Amino acid sequence: MNLLHPITTERSRIRLGDASDASRLLRYRVQNRDHLAPWEPLREAAYYTLSHCVQTLAEAREAVRLDRAYPFFVFDLAETEIIASLTFANVVRGAFQACHLGYSIAAPWQGRGLMQEALGATLPWAFGEMDLHRVMANYMPRNERSARLLERLGFEREGYARRYLQIAGVWEDHVLTSRIRAD
Ligand SMILES: CC(C)(COP(=O)(O)OP(=O)(O)OC[C@H]1O[C@@H](n2cnc3c(N)ncnc32)[C@H](O)[C@@H]1OP(=O)(O)O)[C@@H](O)C(=O)NCCC(=O)NCCS
Repeated sequence: MNLLHPITTERSRIRLGDASDASRLLRYRVQNRDHLAPWEPLREAAYYTLSHCVQTLAEAREAVRLDRAYPFFVFDLAETEIIASLTFANVVRGAFQACHLGYSIAAPWQGRGLMQEALGATLPWAFGEMDLHRVMANYMPRNERSARLLERLGFEREGYARRYLQIAGVWEDHVLTSRIRAD
């Protein structure tokens, strides 16, 4: 995948966001507020405003420019709406060549294999063009959907971290997994 061109899968288009996606991003946030709240940090009221979405998209482009993070959006084929997001974050180069992977999918699109389809299309890019060696993804033990998704994608359990991330206001334990480049 060339960062300037979307990748098209059977049912989706995946690309970086730009300023013109702000209203689509706002819809994604507002419509999935209750669906995502149990799995994400607490959000300020400002998070659900257009100006915050504009700022998020600008910061995302800057993170890409600096090789720090690669936040992608997954659209329906007509690109009318954002159906999911996935981010290769906290990129560390040098001897590590690693990042953290985060993702979420809109409630109506969950349970259709679309997140697997999108990650299946972008992980080869991460290990190829981005030259990453390790992609780390961590989930709360009760997040069974996330556990099943990562297992299907070939992520392996590496550990268990107590009180690892503050999710919905609580320091939650996480299962630590990684997928390592096959070479
Ligand atoms: C985690 C999350 C992305 C998983 O989404 P998902 O839609 O279940 O993931 P997949 O794309 O792998 O879909 C798999 C499901 O679709 C079903 N499915 C239906 N049609 C399918 C198809 N054509 N191909 C593959 N799977 C299909 C599978 O049976 C599976 O359901 P099951 O797990 O109940 O058996 C989603 O639950 C989510 O956004 N949760 C909230 C945010 C979150 O938890 N983020 C991760 C934090 S670690």
